[in-house]
Amino acid sequence: MKRREFLLGSGAAAGALGLGGYSLAAGSGAAQELTIQSASFALRNQVTTGMVSLSPDAPPPVLYGRQGEVMRLPVRNTLPDYTAMHWHGMRIANEMDGVPYLTQMPMAEGELFPYEFTPPDAGTYWYHPHCMTMEQMAHGLTGVMVIAEPEDPGFDSEQVINLRDFRLDEDGAFLPAYTARGATRAGTFGNVQTANWLDTPTYEHIAGGLVRLRVVNTDTTRIYKLHLQAGAARIIAWDGHPVEIDIAMPRADEPLLVGPGQRVDFAVVMPNDEGEAVELMAKLPGQPHRAMARLRAVGASVSRNLQELKPLPVNPAARPDLANAELHEFVFGWTPEGTVPNNGFCGSLGYNFWSINRKPWPGDAAQDVGPLATLQLGKSYVLRLRNESPNLHPIHLHGLAFVPIKSNQRQLPPLMTDTMLLLKDEVVEIALVADNPGDWAFHCHVIEHQKTGLTGFIRVV
Ligand code: C2O
Ligand code: CU
Ligand code: CU
Repeated sequence: MKRREFLLGSGAAAGALGLGGYSLAAGSGAAQELTIQSASFALRNQVTTGMVSLSPDAPPPVLYGRQGEVMRLPVRNTLPDYTAMHWHGMRIANEMDGVPYLTQMPMAEGELFPYEFTPPDAGTYWYHPHCMTMEQMAHGLTGVMVIAEPEDPGFDSEQVINLRDFRLDEDGAFLPAYTARGATRAGTFGNVQTANWLDTPTYEHIAGGLVRLRVVNTDTTRIYKLHLQAGAARIIAWDGHPVEIDIAMPRADEPLLVGPGQRVDFAVVMPNDEGEAVELMAKLPGQPHRAMARLRAVGASVSRNLQELKPLPVNPAARPDLANAELHEFVFGWTPEGTVPNNGFCGSLGYNFWSINRKPWPGDAAQDVGPLATLQLGKSYVLRLRNESPNLHPIHLHGLAFVPIKSNQRQLPPLMTDTMLLLKDEVVEIALVADNPGDWAFHCHVIEHQKTGLTGFIRVV
């Protein structure tokens, strides 16, 4: 946020809606079409072409909505490939979930899908395609959604940081996003790290002010190890949902693991002195800690402190009844037979290597494949997730929120989420209320794993 915008805005909510994204709250008249198109952008020194965004020369915008108010997001596909748009973390109606063949037909070139839903929860969410997923995400189409609380939580300003890599050659051209080696291991990593498509951008915020920093990992592969170099800060939300307990702030030697698809919101007090900065730091393998983005203090100090913030209102996601929950088990690992073919639809790689419950997903458009589990609407469940591979898997469930209840390796805070990062050989139990009917995709968010078999769906009836 620029200082000028800060000075023009009155309070966080007004400021948030003036950040240059779309405001799509109810009553805003005809909704603006979101056009999936090819784009060019200077990710480093040279212009990279063949990117995918919602405008010809800029990253996908932050989409703003308000809890409990309808959002109309008509999406048009102008690419020659099929696509469908998914709203990650949103507990919305199944037919708006954007999963090809499961909840809608993929959109061909020229087609429009009139997505429309009312976010039940406030918080930080994101959007990305779910067909040609790797091709379109790796080329740029990953954007952040901010759903505002009905009442202004009292920040002076806010900052969205969309973290992701690109895989480029020396001339700024895309390298292949997939490698066979990566797909069977931890995934294929990008070599150009960005925040909002920029190389360590600096954003100005009022000195001494309270900033809500929303960090989103939209990468196709990388598990970020983050910490914040700040005087005073607190984690206030995780994967969209308010954190109701005290969570230790990550440090350089104990960073926070944020897997693909995950989000963390910090409340940050800006330094009092003009020009001083707060830095969002990441540890990448084989490199020293690196600043991904900076918040620079500007203007006369307002001397706010964290105690002035009221807790964020809890989202209306139901808490599971553990005493009456039924257990279902899921095993994530390689296929028992090694590499087997899949149908290659929607950008699946044509072969499977990964599986859930030892059955690889045969590919999108596999109508003959049943659900991994069928849950009764309104009942509570415990899902036991077992990782029998040496690689980490951010396991994501659409349409429902869940809470981790135990792990065989660590203490897990009971934070409401939609994506659980499974460590090597870890077994985690998560609990949920099956309160949203439909077929909900359930997959690893390392896209190469998803596209080589580590996916399926859970049915709620
Ligand atoms: Cu973030 Cu199935 O998606
Ligand atoms: Cu999702
Ligand atoms: Cu995985």
